[in-house]
Amino acid sequence: MSNHRIPAVLTGLGTCLPPRVVTNEDLARRLDTSHEWIHSRTGIASRRIADAGTSTAELAAAAGGAALESAGRSSCDLVLVATTTPDRACPATAPQVASALGLTGAGAFDLSAVCSGFVYGLSVAAAMIGAGTCAGVLVIGAERYSAIVDPQHRGTAVIFGDGAGAVLLERGEVADGYGAVLHTELGSDGTGNEMITVPPGERYLQMRGREVYTRAVPTMTDSARRAAAAVGWQPADIDAFVGHQANLRILESVAKRIGVPPQRVITNIEDVGNTAAASIPLALAAAADEGRLTPGDRVVLTAFGGGLTWGSAALRWPDVRPVHR
Ligand code: UT7
Repeated sequence: MSNHRIPAVLTGLGTCLPPRVVTNEDLARRLDTSHEWIHSRTGIASRRIADAGTSTAELAAAAGGAALESAGRSSCDLVLVATTTPDRACPATAPQVASALGLTGAGAFDLSAVCSGFVYGLSVAAAMIGAGTCAGVLVIGAERYSAIVDPQHRGTAVIFGDGAGAVLLERGEVADGYGAVLHTELGSDGTGNEMITVPPGERYLQMRGREVYTRAVPTMTDSARRAAAAVGWQPADIDAFVGHQANLRILESVAKRIGVPPQRVITNIEDVGNTAAASIPLALAAAADEGRLTPGDRVVLTAFGGGLTWGSAALRWPDVRPVHR
């Protein structure tokens, strides 16, 4: 059964991608790598990289503003920024983002769950709406991994990209259920905290890619299955499977294990790489633009990442037009 009894409805979707495109060929000019290696191992062909002067808060505010515009709203009562790459250790990014959007006075906080940050944010927002604490929550995933990735380390530099994606969730009583976040579940295993880490006192991210891969596939499979089963969906009922865009091979293998056919697997990793907390809303927006998501579709989201953390959500796709900044 759905664990969100007062429905939180997705009413707006926005994105912000920095304009600079960095292709695999660009990386191969300065690193011991190749387009063939990167594309065949990950599915990535290019990613966006923010200029040094662009902050996570700016990307977040642009995506958040786009989501508000997409919903036709100018306000909400909570701004939640999921990010691995806040501009500062203190204070949080979200209050600055809220004020940049003209929402001074709204509640605002950051959420740190690395690549699972968006699903964590969605779950928290849906629960707060369900509890009656909030009526409208902007959930923003915003990342500037270029700030924490060693540009000389081929194992990580080829994987990550910058960007932001956001949704507006509102308290809703929708007769047809379109847009409703029906169920969310979250999980973690801190014993794996060294697998994806910026060690204390160090600047750059370290990732044990092979180990993460091996954990990600069964964990995402089980979590996504549970979320679908909780709302009574069989694998054949899932119209769109939207996993965190970490690696195309992970997404394909999770979908195969669940029993979701390849044409129902949503991916945009080829164009943006792994954007951590931003990846699911960016993938949703790309799919909506391409007409691959239509109102009423049964959508399962699942993510896995540093912490280790994971989470899944089941929702009915709304009638929404993404806005890009
Ligand atoms: O987003 C949050 C969660 N993160 C993930 O889910 C990431 C999961 N992991 C992965 O996606 C994959 O493990 C990677 C894409 C990161 C790496 O792919 P892999 O197939 O697991 O490669 P590997 O790390 O086992 O490395 C295989 C070989 C190594 O060489 P040797 O030791 O076999 O000679 C690496 O040194 O490939 C080498 N290598 C590269 N070669 C060319 C590593 N990076 C590169 C590179 N270009 N960029």
